[in-house]
Amino acid sequence: MPGDKSVSHRYAMLAALAEGTSELRHFSAAADCHSTLACMSALGAEVKIDAGNSGTTMRLLSGILAGQQFSSKLTGDSSLQKRPMKRVIGPLREMGADIRARDDNFAPLEIRGARLKAIDFNMPMASAQVKSAVLLAGLFADGVTSVTEPARTRDHTELALEEFGASIEKDGRTIRIHALARTNGGGKLLAKSLDVPGDLSSAVFFIAAASLFPDSNVLIHNVGLNPTRTAILDVFASMGASIQIVGLKSAHGEIAGDLSVKGASLKGGVIAGEQIPLVIDELPMLAALGPYTEEGIEIRDAAELRVKESDRIAALAENLRRMGASVEERPDGLKVLGRSAGKLRGAEIEPRGDHRIAMAFAVAGLAAEGNTVIRDADCAGVSFPTFFQELNRLAER
Ligand code: S3P
Repeated sequence: MPGDKSVSHRYAMLAALAEGTSELRHFSAAADCHSTLACMSALGAEVKIDAGNSGTTMRLLSGILAGQQFSSKLTGDSSLQKRPMKRVIGPLREMGADIRARDDNFAPLEIRGARLKAIDFNMPMASAQVKSAVLLAGLFADGVTSVTEPARTRDHTELALEEFGASIEKDGRTIRIHALARTNGGGKLLAKSLDVPGDLSSAVFFIAAASLFPDSNVLIHNVGLNPTRTAILDVFASMGASIQIVGLKSAHGEIAGDLSVKGASLKGGVIAGEQIPLVIDELPMLAALGPYTEEGIEIRDAAELRVKESDRIAALAENLRRMGASVEERPDGLKVLGRSAGKLRGAEIEPRGDHRIAMAFAVAGLAAEGNTVIRDADCAGVSFPTFFQELNRLAER
């Protein structure tokens, strides 16, 4: 698998802030992470930087830029310009940031660096990106900044900050970060030599593909297994998937291992509540598996899917119907009927420029009757440039 996208973004940002030269091995090949690299190399003067399709780049960088001694303008592609930024602008302003945005919510963002003050932020939503923006701003604030999350979200930022030498503490659902000026004497982060684990969210497409065929047997090496990311493995296990973890090692606060996946009959089920933020990026693949499961798949409490790289609820409903599935679309999710509603047939898929929609339907198409065509399939490169090569390599014809 490519290096983990979430971890790669964070290592690149912190390495750029750190004193000295860092080495990041197995850095993600995703276009999104290259957007972060390009942004970091452009920084240091009055700049305009382009976050491409990457929400993580824009939201996390906003936190860093808010506390610098220069101004910047952040823009992105047409999808990113439609994604809500108020969620980071709000708390950053509370810290004293000077940020302007279109309709006070959308990119381009104009950020004038300012002296920030620490806040105690009770986060209204379960978002790792919002948490991360505030923690990163906390590096440049005056005092100790805290973020309390309403439900658990991925904790790569906290782990990476600790690796790079920041002073950070965790207490239940609250994370506290000390301003850099008061950290390790010199107020600096320290360069590191780090390995990025493989991306579990990318591996999920192969876990799904392997599960669909009774005789398949796939071994996926070196996948990140941070406990804030592995809820998807529990969901698969509860649905009857055959997944074994065959080796575990720790890597700079992160955990990685190999996964062995065999074909299995999937039961399906309901995914809702506090599970949602922990499997948010895997929901497209789960929904697209729905018609191959016994009971179908129902997703609730996931309105957030409507403001991802595309409106993923609408994109899933539309493309599943194109393949002949029975789908009920709801404001906060969808219900996809299982096997008894009939076999899927190949169709032309419109992924709306969304990498995870393109990959999810490529996998669904493998087990459908007839051929599936994914329009604009290159959009997979946003997270997984070699996805179709890998899929080809695994498919037995
Ligand atoms: C990410 C957090 C999630 C996820 C995104 C990556 C991250 O978004 O959907 O793909 O790296 O922090 P939210 O934090 O907005 O839920």
